[in-house]
Amino acid sequence: MQGVTIVDHPLVQHKLTILRDKETSTRSFRELLREISLLLCYEVTRDLPLEDVAIETPVAPTHGKRLAGKKLVFAPILRAGMGLLDGMLELVPSARVAHIGLYRDPKTLKAVEYYFKAPSDVADRMVILIDPMLATGHTAVAALDRIKEHGVKDIRFACVLAAPEGIDVVRSHHPDVPIWTAAIDERLNDHSYIVPGLGDAGDRIYGTK
Ligand code: URA
Repeated sequence: MQGVTIVDHPLVQHKLTILRDKETSTRSFRELLREISLLLCYEVTRDLPLEDVAIETPVAPTHGKRLAGKKLVFAPILRAGMGLLDGMLELVPSARVAHIGLYRDPKTLKAVEYYFKAPSDVADRMVILIDPMLATGHTAVAALDRIKEHGVKDIRFACVLAAPEGIDVVRSHHPDVPIWTAAIDERLNDHSYIVPGLGDAGDRIYGTK
């Protein structure tokens, strides 16, 4: 599928299976999601540009590489996106964070924003939108609309599970935003849950069911 990368690393797939299991505890779910976020972040940032830099080791002068491109912003969609944030910040500690709060209006089923806070220089940075679940795609599209309103040109989207319907919606509204996911599941059910999925990601992270 164009613009979509499946992170099929064995460690990710192994952890995803435990994550899906309904018997997995809240504590394990949170830990596994954090572990998966590290591996997702590794893949999403795989092609970041580097520049040569001259350094001196204790033994000899040499050349090394360092990150050269735009600085990063991780943008979790509240609340489940927070489950991916700490792991990503561990890998890129200097990244900034943009919090995006959206809920789905039960009548219109449209995404309604209740919180948005981004760094003032967000337009000069690369934004990695993060949410464990890409289901209908409406929330992701609303978040991407909002990020673009702030002038951001370089955006990527990382999730753990995606429904084909959600991928189509995001790719048709935002074809310039590549997607990374650990798996593409079968479909959405009548309640817009991903099948087979893993249930409600927010409830499973925070034990709120
Ligand atoms: N959000 C979730 O947390 N789970 C789904 O299956 C779909 C959306």
